[in-house]
Amino acid sequence: MAIRIIQRRFGGPETLEVVEVESPTASDLGPDEVLVAAAAAGVNPIDVMTRTGGGMAATGAITLPFTPGWDVAGTVRAVGAGATGLAPGQRVLGLARFPREGAAYAERVIVPAADLVPTPDILTEEQAGAFPMAAMTAWQAFTDTASVEAGQRVLITGAGGGVGHLAVRLARHLGAHVIALASEGKHAWLRELGAGETIDYRDATAVSALEGTADVALSLAAGSRDAALRAVRPSGVLIGLGAGAGTEIAAQAEGAGVRYAATHVHTQREWLERVVALAASGDLVPHVSASFALTEAAAAHRALEQGHTTGKIVLTC
Ligand SMILES: NC(=O)c1ccc[n+]([C@@H]2O[C@H](COP(=O)([O-])OP(=O)(O)OC[C@H]3O[C@@H](n4cnc5c(N)ncnc54)[C@H](OP(=O)(O)O)[C@@H]3O)[C@@H](O)[C@H]2O)c1
Repeated sequence: MAIRIIQRRFGGPETLEVVEVESPTASDLGPDEVLVAAAAAGVNPIDVMTRTGGGMAATGAITLPFTPGWDVAGTVRAVGAGATGLAPGQRVLGLARFPREGAAYAERVIVPAADLVPTPDILTEEQAGAFPMAAMTAWQAFTDTASVEAGQRVLITGAGGGVGHLAVRLARHLGAHVIALASEGKHAWLRELGAGETIDYRDATAVSALEGTADVALSLAAGSRDAALRAVRPSGVLIGLGAGAGTEIAAQAEGAGVRYAATHVHTQREWLERVVALAASGDLVPHVSASFALTEAAAAHRALEQGHTTGKIVLTC
């Protein structure tokens, strides 16, 4: 038997039901699938949105009943006949079937082999589970959406969160000067990660002094959306993601002569390989601030919904 979380209705954290089911085995695998004995699953804002009927439920990619979660890390138990490159006993991480049902909130997860890569030794299981979605989102923002270059001034709002802290590391890795907007308690840590400047988003004077000074801004927090736009110089780039995006801000950006791009994370294998290589080199290691047992998924969602996460929250099996 194996534990998994099931949602039979949309709603609050209480809709995350803990159930025990027959454990999947090798005979349940399609030819290109892998059975993973999960060790950790990242908890992402999109999990929370989908739980309430928004996110990937609103797009129709997810329908009831379903098992939430996309970020998965663990050990390969069995591989399908056509799944090459992975073997039982190997540690793996990946973003399972995004944006369709990933079913990562489970002790046993069946994942397409194409969505998995070997976990670098440097990452713990918790870090590996925390990594895929946040890292690929940051990568996509700064390499695909905006080509961040050495010497550019890059503003990141929500800098202390799951995507933000990896975006700080990545922008620094790309040679940018990073300005991190976060609550003050996160400033020393963000400087260690590579931020050249840290600003408390509640400090109106410091925030207004940013006006027109950034080549690129990554907007991750609703409360700092306007600040992110004002900080970008004319013909610079504003990248809006999730709570930091919106049609209103897009129109305002156009009016200000700023290029606006609202992106959604794509599951390109090449990007996963690139960010994992950076992790392996020690340049992109996620910070896990809290881990909850899989059976405590509701508590993990409540913690994320507070809106002030440091780094990542994960579920562990
Ligand atoms: N489109 C996509 O493909 C995609 C993919 C991943 C994520 N996202 C979106 O990106 C956003 C960030 O995701 P995440 O996983 O990093 O979220 P997260 O882990 O919850 O982090 C959010 C961070 O924002 C900070 N914050 C809150 N209010 C702020 C404000 N007014 N100004 C600046 N920072 C503030 C919070 O801490 P402090 O207040 O303590 O600083 C927290 O560290 C979410 O909206 C998510 O849905 C989109």
